[in-house]
Amino acid sequence: MTDVQQDWWRSAVIYQVYIRSFADGSGTGVGDIRGLRSRLAYLRDLGVDALWINPWYSSPMLDGGYDVADYRSIAGEFGTLADAEAFVRAAHGHGLRVIIDIVPNHTSDRHPWFRAALQAGPASRERARYVFRPGQGENGELPPNNWKSMFGGPAWTRVTERDGSRGEWYLHLFDSSQPDLEWGNEEVRQEFLDILRFWFDRGVDGMRIDVAHGMIKHPELPDLPVGEAGEVLAPAESDDHPHWDRSDVHEIYREWRKVADSYDPPRVFVAEAWVDSPERLAHYVRPGGLHTAFNFDYLRAPWSAQELRKIIDQTLDVFHEVGAPATWVLSNHDVERHVTRYGRQVTSAVIASSPPVELGEPDEALGTHRARAAALLMLALPGGAYIYQGEELGLPEVLDIPEAALRDPIWERSGHTKRGRDGCRVPLPWTTHGPSYGFGVNGSWLPQPAGWGARSVQAQQYDSGSMLNLYKEALRLRRDMRALGLGSLEWLPGHGEEVLAFRREPDFACVVNLGAAPVKLLEHNRVRLSSAPLDDGLLPPDAAVWLAV
Ligand code: NOJ
Repeated sequence: MTDVQQDWWRSAVIYQVYIRSFADGSGTGVGDIRGLRSRLAYLRDLGVDALWINPWYSSPMLDGGYDVADYRSIAGEFGTLADAEAFVRAAHGHGLRVIIDIVPNHTSDRHPWFRAALQAGPASRERARYVFRPGQGENGELPPNNWKSMFGGPAWTRVTERDGSRGEWYLHLFDSSQPDLEWGNEEVRQEFLDILRFWFDRGVDGMRIDVAHGMIKHPELPDLPVGEAGEVLAPAESDDHPHWDRSDVHEIYREWRKVADSYDPPRVFVAEAWVDSPERLAHYVRPGGLHTAFNFDYLRAPWSAQELRKIIDQTLDVFHEVGAPATWVLSNHDVERHVTRYGRQVTSAVIASSPPVELGEPDEALGTHRARAAALLMLALPGGAYIYQGEELGLPEVLDIPEAALRDPIWERSGHTKRGRDGCRVPLPWTTHGPSYGFGVNGSWLPQPAGWGARSVQAQQYDSGSMLNLYKEALRLRRDMRALGLGSLEWLPGHGEEVLAFRREPDFACVVNLGAAPVKLLEHNRVRLSSAPLDDGLLPPDAAVWLAV
């Protein structure tokens, strides 16, 4: 295998499959492996290089499968292990690589290890795999510290011991059904090395690491600082944050990298690490560590030329320094879809579990113009990119899912004050009509809004102006043009503060107009692709263009 093939991940466009909502092949209302397999030709024709599949393991599904009960088997509703193996072969047959999710920070409380920990009681080997502690207060009635669950409420839950007494507390940075593992424990470390091999042996090309910045906790589990009103503060992440982005986490990845490198071709990792800055993120992708990481600073950035340029420059600088490729991402299953976000007054991504801020009502037409331009910008930048399923259809966030249908644990844990992330997880529309718009032959696990069919693949495929065809064309050109993918960029001066204009060699330029007035284009031979029709040769507001220069 040549280096170019081995280094495919350096410039890959990776399509995120939220399997529950992609395609239902068995009529249960839940997406599954059979449905996904039946749509491989669609994904190949779209022009992506690889798929990242959200967790497909056996799970009670209290957090969309990020609560794993068995890392070596497939959830019955998605299929079987044999289906998964056959799927990986079929994807490879279509020229698509497969990345799966691994969830090492926590298990489900139904995982045999956690059940055993409850049975075994304090100071046992079984409890040592998790973070159990006695409570504070006279009778241990207060949690061991003041950490908060990311989904709301305290990060600790008290257990009832076998004799019926109120017992120890266990840590869960997410839902109470997701107990955190103790990564200081050798058994935990060995178990995950074994899980990696289990899947790599089955031909999986890589792993996306869930909460990659959270596995190591301060050994003394100190309180977080408290503000004047008694609120727990989230200090900027640094080596000293008691549970985020602690430097010892990199030791784990150095071991994992050795496992990945022992395969032919080597397997790859992408880190899900919500850290404080591009500099901190680059620590994850130093030589001997992970291969790539999601660029959430880019995802979080507002629709502003200055802000985007700042993040692009910082990213390229710090990643270049450690020899890792940059990546770019606009949406995923945890954030509001960017068609909606870009149509609001506040266009930076606000994570669903953050304190509510006034975002303004979305203007979908505006958001869609910007999303089209954003796609051309992202796909023209040096490095790799992620596309979240449905983004190629221009799907908006579904904001009016009836409360009774909401499934995200954030809804319950926030005391019904935050609706959570279901709005970006609504099953895809494949056809203009029919039950669940072609998602399956029956209904869908989350209700699809009226009008979903008009956004379907069927409705868009022969419409040259559709979002789907913009993505297809951009991905086709990206494959064909040597200038795109890996490499560097050179900013082109003289376009004003609200325009991003850069050149890539050979012979390519991208111009994005984030301002309110049309702009004149630099001298060029040909327009290769534009997100909106040019207006008398001018690039309208909220539009982007690819030029042959
Ligand atoms: C990040 C995942 O993307 C999110 O969906 C999940 O709820 C948390 N990690 C906890 O596993």
